[in-house]
This record gives sequence, structure tokens and C-alpha cells, in this order.
Amino acid sequence: MTTPWDHLIGLPIDQLPSPSVLIDRPTLQRNIDEMAAHAASLGVALRPHWKSSKVIEVGRAQIAAGAVGLTAATANEVTALADAGIPSVFWAYPPVGPARIEAAIAAAAKTHLIVGIDSVAAVTGLAEAAAAAGTVIDVRLEVDSGLGRMGVPADDAVETARALTALAGIRLEGVFTHEGQVQGVGPDAEQRLATGLAAGRLIVEVAEAVRADGIPLTSVSVGSTPGVRSAPTVPGVTEARPGTYVYGDENQVAIGTIAPEATAATVLARVISTQRGEPILVDAGTKAMSADGSLHHDGRFGTIVSESGGVIAVAHEEHGFLRGAAPGLAVGDLIRVRPNHACGLSNMHSHVHLVDDGVVVDVWPVVGRH
Ligand SMILES: Cc1ncc(COP(=O)(O)O)c(C=O)c1O
Repeated sequence: MTTPWDHLIGLPIDQLPSPSVLIDRPTLQRNIDEMAAHAASLGVALRPHWKSSKVIEVGRAQIAAGAVGLTAATANEVTALADAGIPSVFWAYPPVGPARIEAAIAAAAKTHLIVGIDSVAAVTGLAEAAAAAGTVIDVRLEVDSGLGRMGVPADDAVETARALTALAGIRLEGVFTHEGQVQGVGPDAEQRLATGLAAGRLIVEVAEAVRADGIPLTSVSVGSTPGVRSAPTVPGVTEARPGTYVYGDENQVAIGTIAPEATAATVLARVISTQRGEPILVDAGTKAMSADGSLHHDGRFGTIVSESGGVIAVAHEEHGFLRGAAPGLAVGDLIRVRPNHACGLSNMHSHVHLVDDGVVVDVWPVVGRH
């Protein structure tokens, strides 16, 4: 595919405009392969959350390595994946509002679509539209395993599942949870393990209760990067949906779930002013890294991984305030920044640069950025 950025292919990274996102090719491929091997070793299907990259080529590489399909959050992500021929897409977001219903019906004609919901009210519109279109769309019931965001309480799951089976136009295919509370535990590995296992056990218990009520379920799905060593190890879980692992980020490094050398994404930035001594001003602000918070809990926006060290302590839209760097940085010098959160990073950019050994080997569009 030709892109407006093809002229950048073959350039050494010091010739790139800044700020630019660099994706290290060997690290990316290693992350994809290792997660596929991990899921296979547990005997669970892998369905990575694609919002972390929003790059079709990354999704295809995940599928090529063994993922059964991808997970998405927004209508535009679902549409992009369906149009790209991804064979199965789990839309882990309720299809509320006419635009989402329209997107779901259109995507279901192109891919095996499964839609996540946590109430009958959230799916009534889609069920009616599907029935009118003479089709049946698979849905999964979300259960709150402790994050306190979406999801029915476990005790209400059977009743909701029963009500869902009464609707024409949809078929209850499974149950799922997003055990984001594991990340909230922070750096305590033992407690992370316990929290992830508890989430896995809870969703399996829910699935068993629904089945005992006479409703067959195929999928019992869990999903997060910090929980991927725990929740999907519980017998009865059938699927894992980690997303962030594909690029890694500083927040996963901060809590110890991803090694620094397994982070594939950095932002290339340049020093633009040393007038003030400290802080040094660089050209990566919130529009380059996103404003997502730091699990170091020191308010930083990014962590410098190139020689000078230091952190982006404050960020305006196009200005990063670099503090704690070793002396010697001059205007024009390049730095590499590891952002706090990979998914937020991806959403800020129209394209990313695939890099191998300091040279751009491809430029990939970021699509579905809403
Ligand atoms: C529903 C759902 N599944 C899976 C994930 C992936 O989790 P992570 O970003 O920790 O890999 C997310 C992330 O927010 C999510 O919302």
C-alpha cells in the first residue's frame, strides 16, 4: 500500500521529522510471538485488543502468529478491522446509539462479529436491527470482576443471560470481563497474581452458573496485559485479550509486568531550547505522547530511554519539559521517550515508523482514531 509517508522508508532515524513514533521491529515481533506462545501453552485462544496499535499490519501479524481474531473498542476500529478482512472481531463495547448499531450491522456482514454488552437495554436496538436485517449477531455478557466500570455483578448474570436469550436477532455466545483492577494493584506481583486469579475464577463460576441454567456458552474471556499471567490460567477460561503487550509502555515497566527491553514503542524527539538550563525544552508534549497518567505516581508524561536519561516532568501540547537529564544536551539533539501508555500514544498519531537497526523499514498508518 502506498502512503503519504513512503519517502521516509530507508531513512536513518536521525533524518525523521520529530516528534515521531518509532516501533522497533524485532521487539514487536518478539512480543507478538511470545504472547501467542503463552496463550497456546495455556490452551486458550488469543484475541489481542487492537486499540493498543490501531495499525492493520500489527493486527495481521498478531493473527499470523495464531490469534483467533482481534478485540476493538470503537465503531471506527470495528469498521477498519472488518474492512481489512480480519476474520473475527470482538467489539467489547455496548452498541448504544444509531451510529454504533449501523456499524455493527455493516461489520457483521464482513466478519464474524461478537458484541459485548452488560444489559438488555444496551442491546435492544442492535437486536431489532439485526432481526430486521434477517441476521443474528453474537453477543457476550460483560461481568464486573472488580474494576467497577462496565459489567453486571456476578449475582445478576444468570438473570440477564436469560433475558438476553429471549431476544430475536442476537445469540448469547459467552461471558467476558476486563480485569483492569490487576493494573491498579501496582508493583506487588503476588497481589497482582491473586487479583487476576480471583477475576478468572469469578468469570468461570459465572459461566458455569449460566450453563447450569440451560444456556450454552462458548467463550469465557478475560483480558488485560497485567492480568495475562494469572486470569487466563484458571481452568475454564477460553480466551485472553491483552492489548498493551504488543508495544509495551512505561506504566507496565513501572509496575513490573513488562521488561524495559520488551517495549517496542518510543517517541523520537528533539531538544528545542536549553535557555533555562533546567528544564530543557523538547518537541514532545501531550500531542506526541498523550496526557495519560504515570503509574510512577510522580506526574511524569514520559521517560527518557536514550543516553541522557531524565523524565518529561511537565507537558504542554507541543512542549515537553525535560528534567533530570545528564548534562550535555544541546539544541537539535535527539532523545527517545518511552510514553506512559501505549494505547493513548497510538491514538495521537496518523502513522508510526517501523524501525530496524536505526533505519525506517516501513511506515504504517494508524486508523480508526476515535
Ligand atoms: C475490554 C478490554 N479488554 C482488554 C483490554 C486490554 O487490556 P490491556 O490494555 O491491559 O492490555 C482492555 C483495555 O483497556 C479492555 O478495555
